[in-house]
Amino acid sequence: MSIQDKTKQLPLGKRLTRALRSLVGLKNEPLPVEHVKLNRSQYKTIWNSVSVSQDDAKMAVSGYTDEEIYRQMGEGTREMLQSYVGIGPDDVVLEIGAGVGRVGAALAPICKEWIGVDVAENMLGHIRQRLAAFDNVRTIPTSGFDLANVPDASVDVVYSTVVFMHLEEWDRYSYIKEGFRILRPGGRMLVDNVDITSDLGWKFFEEHCAVPPFERPAQISKTSTPQELETYFTRAGYEAIEQIRAGLWIVTYGRKPAAQEQEQQQELPAEQLAAAPAEEAQAAV
Ligand SMILES: C[S@@+](CC[C@H](N)C(=O)[O-])C[C@H]1O[C@@H](n2cnc3c(N)ncnc32)[C@H](O)[C@@H]1O
Repeated sequence: MSIQDKTKQLPLGKRLTRALRSLVGLKNEPLPVEHVKLNRSQYKTIWNSVSVSQDDAKMAVSGYTDEEIYRQMGEGTREMLQSYVGIGPDDVVLEIGAGVGRVGAALAPICKEWIGVDVAENMLGHIRQRLAAFDNVRTIPTSGFDLANVPDASVDVVYSTVVFMHLEEWDRYSYIKEGFRILRPGGRMLVDNVDITSDLGWKFFEEHCAVPPFERPAQISKTSTPQELETYFTRAGYEAIEQIRAGLWIVTYGRKPAAQEQEQQQELPAEQLAAAPAEEAQAAV
């Protein structure tokens, strides 16, 4: 595993930072406090309530309603995905937490099928409206905790962008595991979050420290360390895990092993168990 530091601004890092910076509300505006009484895990209630109209949904996703800004930001994320995990014309691509289809609009023209998954049915309705011109776009609702409506080994690329900061850690890991399940062998997964170990990420964290404890909205953004995301990818079984530090962001991606490698990996624990001390074998059952 390697971590590339693009904080010193290689061109893609710069564009990525610029494209994503606005999406997490770095404009020092006060945080919305209407959800302080909800539990963070009530994802469906929280996100449906902020996405009734398309403009409200767009504001909740990015703080903008302007379609041209949306198009530009979507192109920035497409560029990042193409450069890190690749998107080909035969790929089925799935986004977890797809919002109003900001990224889908840029990917649908270049992939076989783009699937937008979101916890908020309102968001999915806006995707269907905004991306109606594409016949290769599909939307799938989720409970907010898994990809139960998506069959095993049916997708080539899974990604989630500007979503993990709103999730509990357990649910971040659940989506990375679910991504592994729905990927075909050799398929790729990418996620991002605000990197608390970067200077910009620390500034972001400190700004959120200023919110009084009982005024924290349920969906308040929470950061990751690179190690947290790497751990999830490793534990879920991905290989070729890479991390890119780009300003505010830590981007993590990996590949589901090819079928043959998976079979070999599945055989390993049994061999290891045979050689392990009895108590370790017991703990592993
Ligand atoms: C900040 S928006 C980002 C949308 C989109 N990824 C983008 O970059 O334009 C966060 C999105 O995640 C969705 N979301 C929040 N919690 C979720 C969960 N537990 N499962 C799936 N989607 C979730 C929200 O409904 C919202 O559409």
